[in-house]
Amino acid sequence: MSGFGNHFATEAVAGALPQGQNSPQKTPFGLYAEQLSGTAFTAPRSENRRSWLYRLRPSANHPPYRPYGEPRETEHFARRASPNRLRWDPQPWPAAATDFVDGMVRWAGNGSPLDQIGTSIHLYGATASMKHRCFYSADGEMLIVPQEGGLTLITEMGVIDAKPGEIAVIPRGVRFRVELPGGKARGYICENHGASFRLPDLGPIGSNGLANARDFQTPVAAFEDLDEPTEVIQRYGGTLWTTTFNHSPLDVVAWHGNLAPFKYDLARFNTMNTVSYDHPDPSIFTVLTSPSDTPGTANCDFVIFPPRWMVAEHTFRPPWFHRNVMSEFMGLIHGAYDAKAGGFAPGGASLHNCMSGHGPDQASYEGAVKAELKPHKIDNTMAFMFETRLPILPTAAAMQSPSCQLDYDDCWTGFEKPQLP
Ligand SMILES: [Fe+2]
Repeated sequence: MSGFGNHFATEAVAGALPQGQNSPQKTPFGLYAEQLSGTAFTAPRSENRRSWLYRLRPSANHPPYRPYGEPRETEHFARRASPNRLRWDPQPWPAAATDFVDGMVRWAGNGSPLDQIGTSIHLYGATASMKHRCFYSADGEMLIVPQEGGLTLITEMGVIDAKPGEIAVIPRGVRFRVELPGGKARGYICENHGASFRLPDLGPIGSNGLANARDFQTPVAAFEDLDEPTEVIQRYGGTLWTTTFNHSPLDVVAWHGNLAPFKYDLARFNTMNTVSYDHPDPSIFTVLTSPSDTPGTANCDFVIFPPRWMVAEHTFRPPWFHRNVMSEFMGLIHGAYDAKAGGFAPGGASLHNCMSGHGPDQASYEGAVKAELKPHKIDNTMAFMFETRLPILPTAAAMQSPSCQLDYDDCWTGFEKPQLP
């Protein structure tokens, strides 16, 4: 099944989906009907997201949640918002066996989950599959960007295999377990506290291009029938909570609706760029956008810098220097990024906040102004950006990490002053 924003209907057991009514007095096989709302009941039809789940037990069947583990002080934002440009080396793998939940560290963010605005940006590094437990975020949908190692996301609504080069989005509230087919995995997560991600409008581009709706893949129903204690951990209000169900909550036998997890292969992105001169704004590379209440000003855009032909004439082809009212958190999935000659490694990250000047480092600048401008293909690369309306605050974990490059500013030293006539 594929598509985006479509209405799906899927059943793991033939005949499990009620026909013609969402919640009949008696459902097929006596399954429990549950509506999962992704928007307010009264959201406009074009925005409205909800699905009906038909399951072995009601989701309400569980004991109270209690705080999970010790408070993670390092996940709090640093006490001062830093205007400084920041960059980090890739994180080391965890020393002990660590699963997706325990290996996820909030690195930066903005807004507030309780205000339902902004984002939390996490890095994850996992070396063990989740066993007898699953996870969900009540704080936002999870846009997962694998960087090394694939993930098998066993969700309430079906199974998604996501490998580096693909992204997966799990809606707010949908429970899932993460298995590691390759034994270890790491990457990035944008936990989006605001309006859910959707495809951007295309304006004069027309009805095709950028990420095409048909390339988004949604799983078919699959369920577990396990009467075994299962820990369920949730993010709520920015912290983790836990309880134990007496069964697996991944027990949805059938579902229908337009709120669903999905994955997308970034190689399918239909990249647009200039065919004459100058450097378009990076918004031309927007895959998904979470709008804010201000038109055209995103709570968060997910933007990629994919392989592409560079053909602009009489043009400085890497990004020019810029200062942006929006704030930019970048990561690199593989390869090299064309505005940096070194220091931005796959698995690393950078943060260029509101009005912080940045752009090509000196080596990239010198190379670009001297380059002979033939058509040139940037290949074997995939960088991405979470671009947000609100300035991004690093957490204590990010600021205290030995991976934080204390000499990052130096990449912009050494530019010579032009000689005026
Ligand atoms: Fe930038």
